[in-house]
Amino acid sequence: MSIISKYNRASYVFDTMEIPMEHIWFSKWRKEILSELSGRVLDLGIGTGKNIPYYPDDCEVVGVDISDKMLAHANKRLKEKKNISLYQMDAENLGFKDDSFDYVITTFVLCSIPNPVAALKEIKRVCKPDGMVINLEHMKSDNRIIAFIEDLFNPLTVAIMGVNINRKTVENAKKAGLNILEVQNKALLDVFRLIKSKP
Ligand SMILES: C[S@@+](CC[C@H](N)C(=O)[O-])C[C@H]1O[C@@H](n2cnc3c(N)ncnc32)[C@H](O)[C@@H]1O
Repeated sequence: MSIISKYNRASYVFDTMEIPMEHIWFSKWRKEILSELSGRVLDLGIGTGKNIPYYPDDCEVVGVDISDKMLAHANKRLKEKKNISLYQMDAENLGFKDDSFDYVITTFVLCSIPNPVAALKEIKRVCKPDGMVINLEHMKSDNRIIAFIEDLFNPLTVAIMGVNINRKTVENAKKAGLNILEVQNKALLDVFRLIKSKP
C-alpha cells in the first residue's frame, strides 16, 4: 500500500489517535516552535493541520502534504485564516523555486517520507540561505536498549502506518548537506528531538 493510501486511510482517526501525545507533549512543542515565526514558512507534511492554530497571523504559511485526505482535514482547520494555503505535493519533489522560504518546518514527518534524505535535500534547496530549517521528529535513540526496541517494532509500524521509528534523522539531515545548529532532546530520552539547521 502506498504512503498516500496509508495516510488517506489514517486521516479519519489520526487526530483521535494522537490525543494523549498531543495533550502531554505535542501541543506545547508546537507552540514553542511556531508561535514566534515570521516571514514565509513552508510546513512540509502538514497532515491534518495540527500546526495551523499556532502560526502567527503575520506569517505567510504554505502547507503541503502528499495525502489529499489529510489535506482535506487541514482545510477544515483553516477557518478564518487567510495567511495559509495548502497544496498536494511530494516532499521529495517540491514545486517551489530555490530559496523560497524563511523557515521550513517538519513535525513528525521525516519518519514516513519514503526517502527522507531526498526530502531533506529539497528542504535545503527551497530554504533561503539566511533561513532556518526546523525538524521536530522522533528518531532512533542513541540508547542501545531503546534502539533495539525501535528496530524490533519498526516492521510493524511501517506495515500499519508507514511510520519508521528507527530513522537516523540527524545523520540524514547532515547527509542532505544541512548545517546543524542545534539538537535538543525533547522526550523519551532522545527519541523525540528538535533539530535546527541552516541550508
Ligand atoms: C505523522 S503525519 C504528521 C502530520 C503533521 N505534520 C503533524 O504534526 O501532525 C505525517 C504526514 O506526512 C505526510 N507525508 C508522508 N510522505 C510524504 C511525502 N513524500 N510528501 C509530503 N507529505 C508526506 C503524510 O501524508 C502525513 O500527513
